[in-house]
Amino acid sequence: MKFSAHSNIALIKYWGKHGHQLPSNPSISFSLKKCQTIMSFAKTPSEEFKLEFFFEDQRNLSFEKKIQEKLKKTSLNLSSFHLKIKSENTFPHSCGIASSASSMACFAKILDNTLNLELDSKSLSSLAREFSGSACRSIKSGAQSWGEVDYIEGSSDKYASFVKIHERFHNLRDTIIVVDSSEKKVSSTLGHSLMNKHSFASARFNQAREHHQQMVEALRTGDWDTFSSLTIHEAWVLHSLMQSADPSFCLLRPDTLKMIEALNDQLNIPFTYTMDAGPNIHLIYEDKYHQDVLNFLEVHRFYESIIEDEVSYE
Ligand code: DP6
Repeated sequence: MKFSAHSNIALIKYWGKHGHQLPSNPSISFSLKKCQTIMSFAKTPSEEFKLEFFFEDQRNLSFEKKIQEKLKKTSLNLSSFHLKIKSENTFPHSCGIASSASSMACFAKILDNTLNLELDSKSLSSLAREFSGSACRSIKSGAQSWGEVDYIEGSSDKYASFVKIHERFHNLRDTIIVVDSSEKKVSSTLGHSLMNKHSFASARFNQAREHHQQMVEALRTGDWDTFSSLTIHEAWVLHSLMQSADPSFCLLRPDTLKMIEALNDQLNIPFTYTMDAGPNIHLIYEDKYHQDVLNFLEVHRFYESIIEDEVSYE
């Protein structure tokens, strides 16, 4: 049996958490259509719960250990069976393309199935969150907001909610400019923990709350300029928080900056861009400008490869 879950790209970033995987500020993301994790699994009876995890046909012991620890913190009643999971991504993992989001969302779907939990989408999103925060935004497609706010009915710190967006945003592409596909050196989980004592933490959480509200409004009304400038601003704030953490770290690469400089100087279409916890750039623009982007990328080659994706809006 197979399950899949798509990746997502955050426009307003989740960076900082408390309690059991609860976010310090609300976040919002777009779901991607093509970047997905696909998992197949086999369940057999066993004396005790046992998990074997293969990523691209290689046993992945560190993932197994990470999952086992996270499973202990959940309230799940794991009965006696052996779960063998084979996982594949349609994109390179650990390069800032939110592989933990799609893989943990997919894993939550497998647990739901194997344990006969029959969870509704909110509970499934909440289960995925327990494995990785951003994964709660990868259960359903479209724009997903995570975090309790009074202007989104039914919103919660425990699960993501769908946000309806203006038709201006219905035909967006996300061309992922892979500047460096090597494994990232600092995990998001460590990055989040550095927010606990970060000098800018409370200012950041207030700013993110404001940005989130402004973004929800911009997406609703089709306000491209606000959407675009907030998205870029959030990317830089995220990376500034990393660089001003103690100890500080930087996930950007020289070619990230070269690409962004070229985008700013040479790409004459309406676009926005963002980076997650990695050096790669998500270039977001309307489908009608695809050829302009291809022409631009032909000339400005400060990257390893390109992943062509699309944003889903429903
Ligand atoms: C920069 O969800 O990977 O991508 O909850 O510790 O697993 P954990 O962190 P994770 O953090 C993602 C951070 C981000 C921004 C975002 O997706 O909102």
